[in-house]
Amino acid sequence: MDPYRLPRTVVPSRYDIRLEPDLTTLTFSGVETIAVTIAEPVSEILMNAVEIAVDEAVVTDGRGREQRATVTLDEGAERCRLALAEPLATGAGRLRIVFRGTLNDKLRGFYRSVYKDPSGVSRTMAATQFEATDARRAFPCWDEPAFKAVFAVTLAIDPALTAVSNTRIASDTREGGRRVLRFADSIVMSTYLVAFVVGELEHTVPTPVGPTPVSIWCVPGKKRLAAFGQEIAVASLRYFEDYYGLPYPGDKLDLLAIPDFAAGAMENLGAITFRETALLVDEQAASHAELQRVADVVAHENAHMWFGDLVTMSWWNGIWLNEAFATFMEMLAVDAWKPEWQRWVAFGVSRAAALSVDGLHSTRPIEFPVRAPREADAMFDVLTYEKGASVLRMLEQYLGPEVFRTGVREYLTRHRFANADTVDLWAALGRASQQPIPAVMDGWIFAPGYPVVSVAVEGRELVLRQQRFTYLTEPLRWFGAAPAAATPPARWQVPVQLRVSAEGRESVERVLLTEPEVRRPLPAGFESVVANEGGHGFYRVRYDEGLRERLLGRLASLGAIERFNLVNDAWAVTAAGLMPIAQYLDLTARFRDERDKNVWSVLLGSLHALNRIIAPADRPRLEALVRDRTAPALAALGVTPREGEDELTRQLRGDLIRALGTLGNDHAVQARAAELYAGHEGGAAPVDPNVLPALIATLAHAGDEGRYHEFFERFRTATTPQEEQRYLYALTMFPQPLLVEQTLARTVNGEIRTQDAPFVARSMLMLVHAREQAWAFVKKQWDTMDRLYPKHGLRRMAEGVIGLVTPELEADVHRFFQERKIDLGGKTLEQYLEQLRVAVALREREGAALSAYLARF
Ligand code: BES
Ligand code: ZN
Repeated sequence: MDPYRLPRTVVPSRYDIRLEPDLTTLTFSGVETIAVTIAEPVSEILMNAVEIAVDEAVVTDGRGREQRATVTLDEGAERCRLALAEPLATGAGRLRIVFRGTLNDKLRGFYRSVYKDPSGVSRTMAATQFEATDARRAFPCWDEPAFKAVFAVTLAIDPALTAVSNTRIASDTREGGRRVLRFADSIVMSTYLVAFVVGELEHTVPTPVGPTPVSIWCVPGKKRLAAFGQEIAVASLRYFEDYYGLPYPGDKLDLLAIPDFAAGAMENLGAITFRETALLVDEQAASHAELQRVADVVAHENAHMWFGDLVTMSWWNGIWLNEAFATFMEMLAVDAWKPEWQRWVAFGVSRAAALSVDGLHSTRPIEFPVRAPREADAMFDVLTYEKGASVLRMLEQYLGPEVFRTGVREYLTRHRFANADTVDLWAALGRASQQPIPAVMDGWIFAPGYPVVSVAVEGRELVLRQQRFTYLTEPLRWFGAAPAAATPPARWQVPVQLRVSAEGRESVERVLLTEPEVRRPLPAGFESVVANEGGHGFYRVRYDEGLRERLLGRLASLGAIERFNLVNDAWAVTAAGLMPIAQYLDLTARFRDERDKNVWSVLLGSLHALNRIIAPADRPRLEALVRDRTAPALAALGVTPREGEDELTRQLRGDLIRALGTLGNDHAVQARAAELYAGHEGGAAPVDPNVLPALIATLAHAGDEGRYHEFFERFRTATTPQEEQRYLYALTMFPQPLLVEQTLARTVNGEIRTQDAPFVARSMLMLVHAREQAWAFVKKQWDTMDRLYPKHGLRRMAEGVIGLVTPELEADVHRFFQERKIDLGGKTLEQYLEQLRVAVALREREGAALSAYLARF
């Protein structure tokens, strides 16, 4: 029997849970009554529990006979065992359990969050985070997604406080000195979606969406930052009710900003929790990127109310059904809300991130076996989210949005209040489309990797070939790697959309590439071809040189996402050793007129990557190349916004200033940034919010100790979450070794919240000026960090090792992880090491050519 799965001999249907948290002693006590069905006459009951003490457990069996259970806790298996003297009679039974626990500081289970109130006094609140497997830290339960039940929560709290849970308040009474809030019954749902938050909370006036009141909650003094989040919450809720064709499954919708929060946000039904940056924002003072982040996260969590909460994957191997869908729906909703944001073009950046990881030998299929909780945790990665969302988008475009939506509606309706698997989704989409979905989709979901489609003109024919894309020819060998399995022949059903120009006219052709190769006759007067037209495909395209040259000559005829893919694929092919670096750098010179921020982000990303591999002596020349590529665009846009300019252009201006001010080390831009910043701070000349974050980064890059202390104070006293983040990350950019050391020290001394510290450390591992110090620091502080940070923290931080791109550092990284026998869950570490190898290999292969190319600058 699987030690991580509970038997189904006794199955819960309803939990009545009463909890009494004490925010001064940081403890809680609880009593729960669980209605169960006893299917077999067992004399033990297995449930999940960890770090809670059970004081008493009484079981009533199918014949109404009561027995006191002997309780043993197995902390390793995260289980408690209720042993009974007599076998239980089958039928409807009941458990009554009395227990106690502590409000921990690891941002999981039932935990405490500490913040300063408007007068600067430290305050404590309590919140929950249960996904994937931490409900068991708050109350004994069947903590697996398929054990759905009704939850009726009661919280007995200090009368000075308030509390929120998944449903509306059914009664609010006093008992002794406590305020007792009884919440209405929830729908039938999984344990990981239960939530309660207790503290001095404020909320906005609810906006009704049909029968559902929608409000934002936060700690006192921050309500002025709630309007934007509420707006997208309302808009996306309306959008999803319409799209899904099903009413919102809760009785109210609260969105809560929690000062300490491990993830970005969590889709607890009716009580969605967020970190503050993902919900609270001053719309007038925020950049486009900061606003989009809030809109994305809110829309994503709302999408889960149906996908995830109403219909839930049966087990964690199917987590992509939740996360990929929520990510896909997030794009649809945000795109419908603000079409001018061109959300699907920006999604190119996410798709590119997934293509990067999925090009590794150490990638995994989207759906992947999961047993232990740490394996479930490792599933929340770019493959689940971004690859998953990409292949859904590809399928949606292939079937047509209407047909796709019909299938989704049918799937949700059929499986509501229950669980489902990938095959159920395929079946519903198959009924809607009358197409063999598994044949098309299984390669994308159950096989690792993706194809590169080569496009070539051979004689009078256009030839398309597919083969798996990988950066390295061989899997990386290191101590932790599983023995290489025989890889199945790599072939996908690739929906290729071609846009062919011939005789001055364009036509679109759809090809389902099922074979290794197809050939088409070239049309008369052939001029050029875009494969992956519209850019929705999850594959790369490699044009022969002639075809690429034709496209580069008519860039203006390509959509932004097509230009994005052209650059991104060229860069990937370069990193894989299939295109010389000089050719790639020549290609970047063709984009001086580019005005799309996403295309710029891939161009700049590749230049950042080169900055990590060049010899220090070459750095001034790389800086000159960066200026050569970017300065014309900024000159054309101007440093200050123009009347009537759209938001994306303003954001691009900010991105270009940042690139020139930091990577380009442009002294004129740095001087201008200092002027603009001073004018802004003095109040004389406010700067566009899209530009301000770039100014802060630039000033840090060129800054001294005085500026560092100024920015640290601004971080400490920031009045919005976005402002706090800007100054926090600016601290990582000061080049002086002493300041690098100070910032590193702050990742473990309590000055930076543990929700942020791993990300700060990760950034420093990836910054050339800080990486060696950061790596030495991380090695030394690993155990401390492991103790302080929330559970995903180390994994996220360790991702920074992919910035340690020298052969010496790479060897040291291997040594460290091997000696310490560190496992980050799933294939995480292997993937980081392979990404590092890809970058070092690029350096080894192209270093000399790169240096020669840069000699021109
Ligand atoms: N369900 C997740 C939160 C989560 C992540 C819980 C990992 C446990 C482990 C939530 O829906 C989510 O996906 N949050 C994202 C933000 C989203 C906009 C991509 C996050 O936390 O980063
Ligand atoms: Zn999610």
